[in-house]
Amino acid sequence: MAESMKGLHRTHRCTEVSNAEIGKVVTVMGWVQKRRNLGSLIFVDLRDRSGLLQVVFDEPKVGAEGFAKAGTLRNEFVVAVTGTVERRSAAVNENLKTGEIEVIATGLRVLSESETPPFPIEENSLTKEDVRLRYRYLDLRRPDLQRNLMMKSKVAMLLRNFMEKEGFLEIETPMLTKSTPEGARDYLVPSRVHPGSFYALPQSPQLFKQLLMCSGYDRYFQIARCFRDEDLRADRQPEFTQADMELSFVDVDDVIDVNERLLQYVFREAIGVEIPLPIPRMSWQEAMDRYGSDKPDTRFGMELVDVSETVAGCGFGVFAGALENGGSVRGINAVGQGAMPRKKIDKLVEFAKGYGAKGLAYLAVNGDGTYKSSFAKFMTEEELRALVEKMGGKPGDLLLFAADRNKVVWDVLGALRLEIAKELGLLDPNQYNFLWVTEFPLLEWSEEEGRFMAMHHPFTMPMEEDWDKIDSDPGAVRAKAYDIVLNGTELGGGSVRIHQNDIQEKMFEVLGFTKERAHEQFGFLLDAFRYGVPPHAGLAYGLDRMVMLMMKCGSIRDVIAFPKVKDASCLMTDAPGTVEEKQLEELGLQLREGAADAP
Ligand code: AMO
Ligand code: AMP
Repeated sequence: MAESMKGLHRTHRCTEVSNAEIGKVVTVMGWVQKRRNLGSLIFVDLRDRSGLLQVVFDEPKVGAEGFAKAGTLRNEFVVAVTGTVERRSAAVNENLKTGEIEVIATGLRVLSESETPPFPIEENSLTKEDVRLRYRYLDLRRPDLQRNLMMKSKVAMLLRNFMEKEGFLEIETPMLTKSTPEGARDYLVPSRVHPGSFYALPQSPQLFKQLLMCSGYDRYFQIARCFRDEDLRADRQPEFTQADMELSFVDVDDVIDVNERLLQYVFREAIGVEIPLPIPRMSWQEAMDRYGSDKPDTRFGMELVDVSETVAGCGFGVFAGALENGGSVRGINAVGQGAMPRKKIDKLVEFAKGYGAKGLAYLAVNGDGTYKSSFAKFMTEEELRALVEKMGGKPGDLLLFAADRNKVVWDVLGALRLEIAKELGLLDPNQYNFLWVTEFPLLEWSEEEGRFMAMHHPFTMPMEEDWDKIDSDPGAVRAKAYDIVLNGTELGGGSVRIHQNDIQEKMFEVLGFTKERAHEQFGFLLDAFRYGVPPHAGLAYGLDRMVMLMMKCGSIRDVIAFPKVKDASCLMTDAPGTVEEKQLEELGLQLREGAADAP
């Protein structure tokens, strides 16, 4: 039977008991990790969020009743133990923080019993994730997840510390709001009071933080929940947390400066990683040209080489065709991989096709100066030699080429570069390579929509030197936007904002908003800007991503207490769920025929 806490007081967490407590009486509480009966002694590993502590039950010390009770303990029972701390009589456990000591129990209470859990509560669980997510409250007892969530709490606290010292104010912004466009679909919440009307859950606090600048708060920050209805990936969740900030009277360098110091402080205090400042910067164009990605992993080389000029006029139709269509031919050199078996190369070709490539041309430089290649027969000896030289190809190297529109070539080679690095083990998990990517294009052409879309969001300031191209060549206008990238993951992003109404209205025009629609959706912002608005800029980090990278997790789910799975459902609560007909009625809603069966 479960006993109460009456008269009991916990003195220590399990691993707070140390050699300094030897000879003292302590009371510890937690879960039974393991019980071993050794004849006259019963050993129990007691677990709480701090770790494990060995408790020993010896009948003369704990009494007959206590000893009998100890014999009934099973895994995950919750107990309170009072006893004396002693140096371990048996072998010291060097893997344990409390490995030199044990508590000799003088009292035991069973605070709660446990059924046999559906999977063992242990580090590096081999249990399938969907089972663990169904019983997330048990999964969360595992030390690795506990460490992750404790780290997240610590990082949030460090961020608050830093922001406070730098004069930022923490201000909340609404969850029930109007659409704030960040490029994903909104989650909508129907209004009961205004049937047919909907709130949108914020994709970010973007508009509100800009308004706070307008209101004179000068420096804002918030650890803010954001909602985006988009396809999930290993580093994406439908609801996630941003460490969000906005500053007045600043330009790009000011934002970068404060954030470099923030990153240095947080990474040092959280995980002891020293970030050398300044963090390198690279323009978007250079990142694409060298790495085929706007979030390059700079822990290894294998950079892209543009060979368009070298192969111009060559006899290989694939290359010539791509160039004729205004595209490019680029390659990467997988150094030392020339002996890669055909089967493996074919796999790379398939991988490339997954990123939109029509094919992947390869050329292995043999030791004797000959080539093994999918296209060498279409080119002259001289053309091949020039190509290999341009690629820095040495005997034993494997050169891989993509020919297509720039965007496809970048996507394909950028992804291929990472894939090969992963396979070859070139990614050092203990290296933290930070990089600012700057000067993003302001706009991005959407084939789907047949119009320009904002690459970051519609409130991002164009670079002054490009503004005159906004009508003649909008695609060439660069933005005062920046992303902070860590080891190939976008950790955060931001921009200087437009604070002039005429530029903002022009932006809406380029984005294809009618004046009416712009005012209907963002009228409050445009109005606010009529009453004196300071120049301002900001940035937001994905807090979950930051902790995920700090803790070297493979998935963002490992740093979120109750995450959703790929189809955006929660396996534990079964959300989303259906609602009563009456609730729909109150909201003035009716489901369309068959809507509930749709995938
Ligand atoms: P952005 O859209 O780049 O910028 O988002 C900022 C950071 O949030 C993280 N992030 C996500 N993390 C987990 N799951 C997701 N679905 C997800 N989407 C984004 C990323 C990203 O870098 N308002 C702007 C910021 C600004 O301009 O100040 C914004 O939201 O780490
Ligand atoms: P094909 O002439 O289509 O048989 O292609 C010859 C070689 O070129 C094969 O190795 C293809 O994988 C490769 N290839 C085809 N299209 C492309 C492309 N767009 N870029 C690079 N290589 C390609």
